[in-house]
Amino acid sequence: MKHQRKLLITSALPYANGPLHLGHMVEFIQADIWTRFQRMQGHTCIYICGDDAHGTPIMLKAEQLGVTPEDLIADTQKLHQQELAAFHIALDHFHTTHCPENQQLCEQFYQLIKANHGFTEQTINQAFDSVKQMFLPDRFIKGQCPRCQAPDQYGDHCDACGAIYDPEELINPVSVLTQTPPVIKTSNHVFFQLPRYQQALQAWLNTAHIQPEVNHKLNEWFEQGLKNWDISRDQPYFGFTIPDRTNQYFYVWLDAPIGYLATLKHFCQQQPHLKFETFLDPDSEFELYHFIGKDIIYFHTLFWPAILMSAGYRPPSGVFAHGFLTISGKKMSKSRGTFIEAQIYRQHLEPEHLRYYVASKLSDNIQDIDFNYDDYFNKINADLVGKLVNLASRCASFIEHYFSGQLANSLPDLDQYQQFVNQGNAIADCYERRAFSQAIRLIMSAADQANQYITQHQPWKLIKQTDQQQMVQAICTMGLNLFRALITWLKPVLPMMAKQVEQWLNIEPVDWDSINQPLLHHTINPYRPLSERVTTKAITNLKQAVTQPPSPQPTNLPADTSSKIAIADFAKLDLRVAKIIAAETVEGADTLLKLTVDLGYEQRQVFAGIKRAYQPEALIGRLTVIVANLAPRNMRFGTSEAMILVAANASKQSLWLLAPDQGAEPGMRIS
Ligand code: MSP
Ligand code: ZN
Repeated sequence: MKHQRKLLITSALPYANGPLHLGHMVEFIQADIWTRFQRMQGHTCIYICGDDAHGTPIMLKAEQLGVTPEDLIADTQKLHQQELAAFHIALDHFHTTHCPENQQLCEQFYQLIKANHGFTEQTINQAFDSVKQMFLPDRFIKGQCPRCQAPDQYGDHCDACGAIYDPEELINPVSVLTQTPPVIKTSNHVFFQLPRYQQALQAWLNTAHIQPEVNHKLNEWFEQGLKNWDISRDQPYFGFTIPDRTNQYFYVWLDAPIGYLATLKHFCQQQPHLKFETFLDPDSEFELYHFIGKDIIYFHTLFWPAILMSAGYRPPSGVFAHGFLTISGKKMSKSRGTFIEAQIYRQHLEPEHLRYYVASKLSDNIQDIDFNYDDYFNKINADLVGKLVNLASRCASFIEHYFSGQLANSLPDLDQYQQFVNQGNAIADCYERRAFSQAIRLIMSAADQANQYITQHQPWKLIKQTDQQQMVQAICTMGLNLFRALITWLKPVLPMMAKQVEQWLNIEPVDWDSINQPLLHHTINPYRPLSERVTTKAITNLKQAVTQPPSPQPTNLPADTSSKIAIADFAKLDLRVAKIIAAETVEGADTLLKLTVDLGYEQRQVFAGIKRAYQPEALIGRLTVIVANLAPRNMRFGTSEAMILVAANASKQSLWLLAPDQGAEPGMRIS
């Protein structure tokens, strides 16, 4: 009997203010493959994740959309869960950090660490936006780089020259929220005394599963010296208040990793046989592994284990970091057309194909991996379909056609089968080490051997000889048994295809060892294609969808701005100053606001795609510019009787309402 392990596995909690993209999927796919592999080995796994729902960006995003943060994070959680299901991520539970379990755990950690003298207080200077009345995180301050003078750089680093600095050093800093210069304001904050845990952390690192490159980074950080860590934030903030402080909140990066435990706790409440407290115990029988991206190593290998140890709880057994996904060699970026949302991908291409492609690229190191359209096309068509699926369909057609789906009673060469199956040990070893690309290479070379076997034995020739019928049945039975081994090894990567194969072959779900016994004297079901080739059309369509994001609302303005119009054409437009007298959100419309505008001589109802940029209340009373003689358009939510004009950036993600200068009055004609 193999030793049965118990594993608690997490993926990093995605922020609840945007859709999942292919970079997120890399991480989910990696953790999911590893979990599914461990389960096939007979180990017990609990795989959990949830949304990271707190912090300034989420608060501001909700404000910008004119919704409450609670609504924003609830909607996002639904979308995230849908997406994860579509990519077959076999999480046991997906929760959120904004939950009572997490609040209670955060307070518990706070009290325990406090009792262990893990905190200290410090008064600090911070940039403050006096218009918006809030402290500004570094990302929300821009100015000129103090080193190279490049304009428009963030408060903590310069993209132009790579300098890292403090926001006070920026030249001519402004708040990105109000464009006003921030003032410096002091306040008293709670700091976690990380340096106290340096020795304990170093001891932990010697026993935990940490990649060599990560270890190297950690040693650099130790040499530079660890610093106290500010775990408090001033109001306004979206998060949990700190029990014994006035108007202060736990920093999101404190409550987010505790959120792993909150998710687990919520899960345990639904699973009577699991006792949450036992997981925290330094002697817990569960190993704890975190899958993360390379950008959040510091949080997971220094802060988080130190926080756990300081509270008297068990640290992780290992942290597995991966590199970043690039698209055609470029960083993912909306403006460059290299930002692929998971949902957009799936409108054009197969989720399981992404799983296969990502697996074929992933290794146990933290190098970036690239999504390359040509490479993807070849890997799916030449390897997955050309080698694997083809083997199944070749053999199936003989067994179905000539032998009524009946497999032979014995294999032509049992030794050869055993040798083939023995490759499973090396493949398992690769999965265990997260060397997935190497596992895929071994599996594809085994697929080559299987295809060679069929090619050598030429069943299509033998079938024409009446005395060779049994031989054909045996050869194709061997072929199908080799295929069964291949799909068993690929089951962590292609769970849906494996399930389809199990139904087709009429067998129980395969585990790692079930192929030790060949499948003989057995009737299989009719074959249905397991996967289709990727078409160039599908790839082109995805590329197009990515480079030209759909505009938030259909507009009737002429698209071609290069063509000239006569003055008479322009005169056809009746542009007028209008006053917004009512504004509300529209049930079921993500981008629209329903406005009532007054022209002095009459009122109009207008549906405008400006919800992402304006809160309805903020619009009431404002003057703006409309196209007054546009034919009424019937929309799903009602009739729109005019059009509001806005300025927009290229992606139409940011919008600005036009306003006439002071003194203009509703109904005035614009010419
Ligand atoms: N909310 C934090 C994590 C808190 S964990 C207690 C966060 N969220 S995130 O949405 O920005 O990223 C979630 C995970 O996706 C991180 O592990 C991050 O490294 C990973 N990735 C985000 N973009 C990625 C790529 N382009 N490529 C690969 N992984 C990437 O960080
Ligand atoms: Zn610079």
